[in-house]
Amino acid sequence: MSTQTESLMWHKISDSDGIVWLTLDVQDSQTNTLTSDVLLELSNEIALLSNDTPKGVVINSAKTNGFIAGADINAFAEMHSVDETFYGIRQAQDLFSRLEKLSCPTVALIHGFCLGGGLELALACDYRLAEDSLNTRIALPEVKLGIHPGYGGSVRLIELIGVLPAMGVMLAGRTLSARAAKKIAVIDRIAPARHLKRVARELILRSPSKQQASPLQKLLSKPILRPLIAALLRRQTRKQVNPEHYPAPFALINLWKNQPANRQQYFTAEAQSVATLIRSDIAQNLVRLFLLQDRLKGFGKQIDFKAQHVHVIGAGVMGGDIAAWCALRGLRVTLQDQSAERIAPAIARAHTLFKRRLKLPYLVQAAMDKLIPDITGEGVAKADVVIEAIFENLEAKQSLFKTIEPQLRADALLATNTSSIPLESLASCLTQPKRLVGLHFFNPVAKMQLIEIIYGKNTLKKWQKQAAAFARQIDRLPLPVKSSPGFLVNRILMPYLLEAMQMESEGIPIMAIDKAATDFGMPMGPIELADSVGLDICISVADMLASTLGISVPDSLSKFIENGHLGRKSGQGFYQYDHQNKRITKSLESAYSDPELLQQRLILILINECVACLDEGIVDDADLLDAGMVFGTGFAPFRGGPMQYTQKQGVDTLNQQLQHLSSVIGSQFKPNSGWEGLS
Ligand code: NAI
Repeated sequence: MSTQTESLMWHKISDSDGIVWLTLDVQDSQTNTLTSDVLLELSNEIALLSNDTPKGVVINSAKTNGFIAGADINAFAEMHSVDETFYGIRQAQDLFSRLEKLSCPTVALIHGFCLGGGLELALACDYRLAEDSLNTRIALPEVKLGIHPGYGGSVRLIELIGVLPAMGVMLAGRTLSARAAKKIAVIDRIAPARHLKRVARELILRSPSKQQASPLQKLLSKPILRPLIAALLRRQTRKQVNPEHYPAPFALINLWKNQPANRQQYFTAEAQSVATLIRSDIAQNLVRLFLLQDRLKGFGKQIDFKAQHVHVIGAGVMGGDIAAWCALRGLRVTLQDQSAERIAPAIARAHTLFKRRLKLPYLVQAAMDKLIPDITGEGVAKADVVIEAIFENLEAKQSLFKTIEPQLRADALLATNTSSIPLESLASCLTQPKRLVGLHFFNPVAKMQLIEIIYGKNTLKKWQKQAAAFARQIDRLPLPVKSSPGFLVNRILMPYLLEAMQMESEGIPIMAIDKAATDFGMPMGPIELADSVGLDICISVADMLASTLGISVPDSLSKFIENGHLGRKSGQGFYQYDHQNKRITKSLESAYSDPELLQQRLILILINECVACLDEGIVDDADLLDAGMVFGTGFAPFRGGPMQYTQKQGVDTLNQQLQHLSSVIGSQFKPNSGWEGLS
């Protein structure tokens, strides 16, 4: 073998069969992305390969975590005009077309993630070969950034597997495992890691016929059928997302429907569509949030900490699901509660989660083996991390802490999942109060990405950092939050939920209230959210906040609880739920006369609380607040978070609207003093 290359990122080796192995290893980064330097160097390599064609080319990655994670998002964020963006995209498209035209067979050898532009590059190769491993993740997730594939990927994927399967992958940005990708022929071959090189070589030397869409799928792409199929796709997509909030999937459908007959022009139209989308506020907001995720991830990198064993106390809604999630992420977990009967439902839920996520019975069994019921609490003395998730009651929690503190290992992280009790109050019973941190998970644990890392006045930095590192270890986003009643997310949500209940008590139909919020872009209305969190939890958080925030808890809430109506978990709250906990829907009989006012009341009261939190330094800055609200509550991501929305609408405008609501509706809307410091 001989090495002969000038590239810094692409390492080129020719083997004895005359096959060239191009291996990407982006410098000073743990992950390969398609930066401008990477593309430029690839362009040079392709030029050399076109002049001196080898037997075949294999493109692979030197990184352990994967092939290529996609285009360079930072570069997108920095582009200033549609024309500049269009030009950049066209250059990458041309490069991939030159790769496609090489007169020798080409193979993309994929392991780990192969996302966005990375998959588009692979689609320009003749064959795609992926490692048969759970770590292989293949996707075109561009719609999540408010765009769609732009490096020729939408054109090539439809040619390869047909419009319906291709749209199924692209419209929701779905992630495929190696096997799922093979099943729909995005991937030609899968093989265990040890056989990958041999299979790549075989593909080149044998050059089997290339994958193409089936005759039926080709028929569906004929001009005469396209309007019909496009209408069907639009209808299905509209059930998932609102085109005004998320235009990218609809732009992709239109692009396909209106495609020029000439393939080159189709590529140009694809580039034009992406360049226009990416300049929109929606894409800019989504890209900003994507980058903010990296900032949150950074909090988990400040210390080297890897837990092996987690002990969770309280196997209820939260503790049970936290334990299951940790076991799913490969940790050994002991789960403690007062009796086996209380642990059993958590184990059953865990089994369902594992089956859904892991699919293969032996993997499900391995995860189950990691989750150990532990009524006597033997795990306390052995665990690297102990998480308390018992009833939201100060005395109960303190009494537990007093019992377990002497048993803890000196280096074990001690955490509470309390939703609202200030850390200082909880920690006052400990001999080492500086040790306690909050690991505040959100419900449902398997879905909500955020964990608030709560620190008190005295909490040692070391424990905070370990808590953040632990959050990353279990693939969650850590957000440092100062301990104060309700912390960040619950404190902001509570006035919003109470305002919704106040509207309900004024006789406004609950469906109209919820619709006002979902029309704004919230994933769920506030009334249904309160039911989902549990009305008992809502009232305990509200009571905790009542004195500090000067809020009053509507009588209706206490009445529900007196009657045992705790929300979704009890089958009855503001709404009714069936035996599978699904909401029994009724249609809104008549549209409420002033939906705009409803929306204003809900959103402005929420933003007013955000401003107060910023003013009090509950999180360090507005970006972190936005990240917390989007990743902790699903606050309309396309609006970029509440503070980004405030900036867009204008600080003065919203302040005036609050003053107006304060005079016509009630003092709960009085702008807090934090507005004075906003610009
Ligand atoms: P839950 O009522 O479903 O579960 C509490 C469990 O703790 C019960 O199974 C109970 O038997 C057990 N328990 C009580 N005392 C115990 C003790 N001394 N030793 C062992 N087990 C004991 O409560 P949930 O909803 O899971 O809440 C737990 C904690 O998580 C609370 O602090 C709550 O504020 C917090 N939280 C709740 C969220 C939610 O949406 N439900 C969201 C985020 C945090």
